[in-house]
Amino acid sequence: MSAEVLLAHVREVPDFPEPGVLFKDLNPLFADPTAFGAVLDEIAGRWNGQLDLVAGIEARGFIVGAPLAQRLDVGFLPIRKAGKLPGPTRTASYDLEYGTATIEIPADSCADSPRVLLVDDVLATGGTAAAAAGLLAEAGAQVVAFEVLLEIGALGGRTALSGYRVSAVATV
Ligand code: PRP
Repeated sequence: MSAEVLLAHVREVPDFPEPGVLFKDLNPLFADPTAFGAVLDEIAGRWNGQLDLVAGIEARGFIVGAPLAQRLDVGFLPIRKAGKLPGPTRTASYDLEYGTATIEIPADSCADSPRVLLVDDVLATGGTAAAAAGLLAEAGAQVVAFEVLLEIGALGGRTALSGYRVSAVATV
């Protein structure tokens, strides 16, 4: 049910951010409280009472993760891009199409929160989520699953996340 709702609120933008890429814009979903609420309720219903923490990846993972954590009555951990946090931090780097990117969490994250749900808006190649899951595991967390709103199946992100439970509200 939420898959149809979600897909009805995706705007496709050709040739963004570069020629040949069909960008999936989820802003229409975020702008509709009824539709976005239904999607969040579906995810929350799978995890009620089974988590200690929700972690979301900067930036659009924050939009999903913070209200989800509130619904589940657990804390929210923002996984930041490099250079945004005071130390000490744990860092993980991952490959992009051109170059690398780095994400960070405070070094003492997850110490009292072993069961962590990782969330983001889109799963593409899986590089970002794999790096984030590895960072959480290194901090001592049990990454119970990766929940994503929209999976772009052709890009093979689940392969990069083998070993983790992956759940997408909708797949294209
Ligand atoms: C997008 C998206 C995911 C990631 C997915 O973030 O929000 O985090 O890419 O791609 P992957 O599966 O190939 O790693 P982006 O890096 O564009 O950052 P943003 O959320 O700050 O826009």
